[in-house]
Amino acid sequence: MIDQFGRRITYLRISVIDKCNLRCLYCMPHGWVNRSRMVDLLTNDELVELAGIFAELGIEKIRLTGGEPLLRPGLVELVSRLSKIPGIRQVAMSTNGVLLKRHARALKDAGLSRVNVSLDTLSSEKFSLITGMDYWQEVVDGILEAKAAGLEPVKLNTVLMKGVNDDEILSLVDFAIAQELSLRFIEWMPTNPWVDVEREGKFLSNEVGKACVEERYCLQPDEADPHSPARSFRIEGTQTRVGFINPLSNLFCARCNRVRLKVTGRIKTCLHGREELDLKAMLRESMPREAIKRQIATTVFLRPEQHFLNRSDVAHQDFVMTHVGG
Ligand code: GTP
Ligand code: 5AD
Ligand code: SF4
Repeated sequence: MIDQFGRRITYLRISVIDKCNLRCLYCMPHGWVNRSRMVDLLTNDELVELAGIFAELGIEKIRLTGGEPLLRPGLVELVSRLSKIPGIRQVAMSTNGVLLKRHARALKDAGLSRVNVSLDTLSSEKFSLITGMDYWQEVVDGILEAKAAGLEPVKLNTVLMKGVNDDEILSLVDFAIAQELSLRFIEWMPTNPWVDVEREGKFLSNEVGKACVEERYCLQPDEADPHSPARSFRIEGTQTRVGFINPLSNLFCARCNRVRLKVTGRIKTCLHGREELDLKAMLRESMPREAIKRQIATTVFLRPEQHFLNRSDVAHQDFVMTHVGG
């Protein structure tokens, strides 16, 4: 699939469940918003059917997100089926890591390629403040187990928050180096009014994060994946890559190769856009496969050029992170 601006779309992110066992400050500090019922989720059969259509349209990589994907019943079976679809070269997952220790090996055996795990702090007390829950040790154990199980590279995702974890930038890098993991610092994106109030005063540009890392380490540019939202660097003398995901201070829309399947069964062609298409309705109304395929290709073709988060004169489209999956 190619969109109207010539970008080739090869990456599908699927939010498989909007439930979560954490309450991160930057995601859902007050609990679930408009939570889906289990019966409203696409079934594994439906997801596999849709993924097959997307694969025929040129999708090569699938990432399972949420909410917390490991809370979805039947996830291992889903991974196993998705990874066998012709054309799908990689099935990855973004997880908070709480349940990872228990499931890492089964996921690897089922065909999962790798995991990205959220880790915003190395302090268990601060973890509880950020996520509302006391699971820091479980997450760290999960990260180490994922690496041991061969779900590599394990990438850590750290959302930078002024006055919360900006004093831990170098300790997190040191941890990644010691454990031979990759690490990305992420700028806190606006999502919806309930969360955006938390963001006030805590947003920190990744320029600050990068400058801090460069005070101690030499960073060599390393764009392993030209479509990644992260500007990536190898830390000289180590196995570790550090990346900076800067949706606000450095627009990466021009190289964006992704579409999203929301937990509601609708596709979203830009994280911050309005354009959607209800695939669940099509499947449940038994629309012919070829017709669904045509509609997906048309909607993807029309995806917008970029988001306007940096412009105060353009209202951004609110969204619920757990529905869209990041
Ligand atoms: P890789 O396959 O390892 O490159 O993973 P990824 O960066 O695509 O996925 P991940 O789920 O780990 O996302 C990391 C962060 O990037 C999250 O905060 C996402 O919300 C954010 N992100 C991913 N894709 C986009 C995008 O297209 N636009 C914006 N604004 N943010 C994105
Ligand atoms: N801004 C930036 N990143 C976010 N994530 C969740 N909400 C936000 C936000 N508002 C991140 C999580 C996770 C990834 C999939 O998305 O930290 O690592
Ligand atoms: Fe859960 Fe991820 Fe949202 Fe945190 S960011 S509340 S772990 S879905």
